[in-house]
Amino acid sequence: MLPKSSGEGVLKLNLNESRWGCSPGVLEVLKNARSQDVCEYPQYDKLVNRIASLRGVSPDRIIVGNGEDDLIHCLAETFLEPGDTVVHASPTYPMFPIMSRMKQACVVEVPYGQDLGFPLEKMISVVRDGARMAVIVNPANPTGGSLGRESIVSVFEACRKDTVLVLDEAYFHFAGVSHLDLTEKFPNLIVLNTFSKAYGLAGMRLGYAVSSQANICEMQKTILPITVNSMAVSAGIAAIDDEPFLSRVVRETLTEKKILISELSSFGIRALDTDTNFLLVEFGPAADKVHQGLKDEGVLVRDVGKWSQLKGFLRITVGLREDSERLIAALKKIV
Ligand SMILES: Cc1ncc(COP(=O)(O)O)c(C=O)c1O
Repeated sequence: MLPKSSGEGVLKLNLNESRWGCSPGVLEVLKNARSQDVCEYPQYDKLVNRIASLRGVSPDRIIVGNGEDDLIHCLAETFLEPGDTVVHASPTYPMFPIMSRMKQACVVEVPYGQDLGFPLEKMISVVRDGARMAVIVNPANPTGGSLGRESIVSVFEACRKDTVLVLDEAYFHFAGVSHLDLTEKFPNLIVLNTFSKAYGLAGMRLGYAVSSQANICEMQKTILPITVNSMAVSAGIAAIDDEPFLSRVVRETLTEKKILISELSSFGIRALDTDTNFLLVEFGPAADKVHQGLKDEGVLVRDVGKWSQLKGFLRITVGLREDSERLIAALKKIV
């Protein structure tokens, strides 16, 4: 009998982790770790410099964190006071409302349309009224779509000068476009990124933020001084150094996503394409049964039906060919 939650034999398609693993170069540096790497406190300069040259910004405009979540926490600690307003489209990545509420901020959730269209006009009108922080996740999770650059700019331009702008680009590799350069135009913009998705380092916990020197300096004051460990530092550098691996993961994810969409559609299941490494798959009233049935088959997917726009949908991470085959085989048994 297969285990029902996690563990050996379970196929995890519920957290948008990479099924391609990480670069062999990452495993190599981990295997070759020296005693010194373990007993000494980590140094961040080499990693920060490497990210700086990769992203074309100066090192003093970068802060690294123990996963992006650490940086979202740091953003809330640094910029929010009780009663401040935080605005985001809803549904969104839950750490934004969670961390904001931890700081007793007032969270304004602007709902996506029932057609999953981004609520651009409403978002603009809410931020015009004044907000301490405005968050855009692009490409979005769990909805999966992207906003065009003009739309992003129109939200930011509608914000007051003292609004902290946050652009979470956790999935940008799969969309093939980043708007990091907008940090030049908007000094109050903080762009977040993670090594958990395309780089396949979710277990290492590594993320970074890029903003103006002034914002990074403020964030340095609130983040724990040594938050990223030495192994994650080495892994991050090795991951950046293996560009061919990253390109292959992205290319194969996109190819597999297309194949999976068409396979699902061939037996009458609609999957919404996204700009990420997951799909939104529609099962209608059977969604709960399918979710549970897949779990019983050892395939974990994410139930997103609690949001009205996603009622009847399951969010499924795109995996390897054999993962899709196992998923389809399990679905054939259930549906
Ligand atoms: C939009 C978004 N931001 C951030 C994260 C978390 O990143 P990390 O693993 O670096 O904390 C996720 C994880 O699923 C995500 O979907």
